[in-house]
Amino acid sequence: MATLAAPDIQIDSFLEEGSLDSMAADIRAGLERRPKELPPKYFYDARGSELFDRITEQPEYYPTRCERAILNRHAPTIVELTGARELVELGSGSASKTRALLYAMAGAGTLERYVPVDVSEAVVERSALELCELYPGLRVHGLVGDFERHLPHLPAGEHRLFAFLGGTFGNHFPEQRATFLASLRELFGSGDFLLLGTDLRKDPAVLEAAYNDAAGVTSEFNRNVLRNVNTALGGDFEPEAFEHRAVFDPDASRIEMRLVARAEQHVRIAAAGIEVHFADGEEMLTEISTKFTPEGLEEELRTAGLGLEALFTDEDGLFAVSLARPL
Ligand code: SAH
Ligand code: AVI
Repeated sequence: MATLAAPDIQIDSFLEEGSLDSMAADIRAGLERRPKELPPKYFYDARGSELFDRITEQPEYYPTRCERAILNRHAPTIVELTGARELVELGSGSASKTRALLYAMAGAGTLERYVPVDVSEAVVERSALELCELYPGLRVHGLVGDFERHLPHLPAGEHRLFAFLGGTFGNHFPEQRATFLASLRELFGSGDFLLLGTDLRKDPAVLEAAYNDAAGVTSEFNRNVLRNVNTALGGDFEPEAFEHRAVFDPDASRIEMRLVARAEQHVRIAAAGIEVHFADGEEMLTEISTKFTPEGLEEELRTAGLGLEALFTDEDGLFAVSLARPL
């Protein structure tokens, strides 16, 4: 479905048809696994997107500040290296860091179109309106959908910079990452580039603090997946009956975010047609957040047919933004 929100804005939504069925199937499959799992993309209803933005303001959560510093410093070089005319942003969210890239493209006189892709309709609409106001003449073609399923619906383009920022790539398991990169590689023309933001491996105490902020915003974000399931699928999860837990697994090099049942309980999810039992203390995996090494990243890119052109880090070497192109 296409909506014309303003003369220079087109937003296509691919979530209406069958989206509840596919959410119900995902939730059913996740709750049948042992340990139980809920896919992280279901954090992001309008409230989840707001909670994520609040996480990025917490003193312990360094990734957004580091990535912003990298982009503010290196955006002109990235634009020069790529000659990008179009910015396609996957999991764009509030697009707050994207502005440095658009600013550099505008400065270089190449900026033609911005294409945000996100499952959260509210953030795509808001960022489209804000960015059109900031950059008169900018065309925005937003896509409300799942970047793992709906990328074939992207508008055709050339000299595109695909930005996948924030570390969202690390929220996927290794097999998902390999499939995702391979499908991106297939979409790419010879003039297209990937700009990938990834968190780096570091002191576990720093990592665990970032996912256990003192103000409890991450804890609310974690429980929001239960609220979203309740609203969308008629579930009766009691969010307060689950405790937030985030620990670093050094073998898998990732933070694992879990919800732990505070007591034995039964949960019904009407639209998924299931009733689920939780034992007292049972843990459910809600998100992984992988922490990479530069070598590991280069290898994942190469395996997908993408060559690393440049890797930028912040002053403290906490976060990396990599630029890659088809080999
Ligand atoms: N890129 C932004 C937001 C990161 S939060 C930043 O760096 O700050 C992760 C974003 O990805 C959210 O906006 C969420 O709605 C979106 N997202 C998560 N899974 C998605 C999926 N499968 N398809 C499309 N968007 C997704
Ligand atoms: C979006 N993603 C990269 C965030 C992360 O750090 O993995 C989501 C998040 N989860 C807890 N805090 C932030």
